[in-house]
Amino acid sequence: MTDQNGMIDIHVMGKQYKVPEGLTILTAMEYCGYRITRGCGCRAGFCGACATIYNLKDDPQLKYALACQKTVEPDMYLVQIPFFPARKAIYDLEKLHPEGEQVLALYPDLIKCFGCNNCTKTCPQEMEVMWYMSDALRGDIMEVANKSFDCVMCGLCAARCPQGLAHYNIALLCRRLYGRFLAPNSQHLDDRIAEIEAGRYDAELEKLRTMDGAELRRLYAQRDIEPAY
Ligand code: FES
Repeated sequence: MTDQNGMIDIHVMGKQYKVPEGLTILTAMEYCGYRITRGCGCRAGFCGACATIYNLKDDPQLKYALACQKTVEPDMYLVQIPFFPARKAIYDLEKLHPEGEQVLALYPDLIKCFGCNNCTKTCPQEMEVMWYMSDALRGDIMEVANKSFDCVMCGLCAARCPQGLAHYNIALLCRRLYGRFLAPNSQHLDDRIAEIEAGRYDAELEKLRTMDGAELRRLYAQRDIEPAY
């Protein structure tokens, strides 16, 4: 319930606070005096550092969000959650093959998925995580890469998986395999890399490297912005 001053009650680590409605969870916690130096990065919904679990009064169901995106609700109960150290396979991308067996060899847990769909229900980006895990199991790497494109690696899917899958790392592997071996080559990118390697931009880059910060900022603000097509 919002009071006449536009304030709502929330609970952080079991303590009640009044905060202005409309704040994000992140800014509300700062309003309450918490100094957030970990579990926070871009503040724009991209880096995935601020994965948050909360619940609401009289509703036993846990809810999931990115703290920099989700606005506070009356009687929201917030706690800090630990980082989930999901397993990340170590590999040399150049030595891999873009095949399902490769994904399974690095992430054999994939086969343990029994379709509970917790990963999808948890995803704050509302992505079909379980579906692209089954694409990974079938070896459809392009499909995994496409469907997981908006993943911000927050790790909430892995946090809720009873089988211990590291969905976001599995999808990252597939995106890397797709980018390295399956995506069509971009001719203009190849041309630009060749130009860079031939030293065409050396003088310009050196000029930028030695420029003072204020001048760099001025140039950045005045840059030509690519037209939107
Ligand atoms: S701080 Fe980067 S996604 Fe929230």
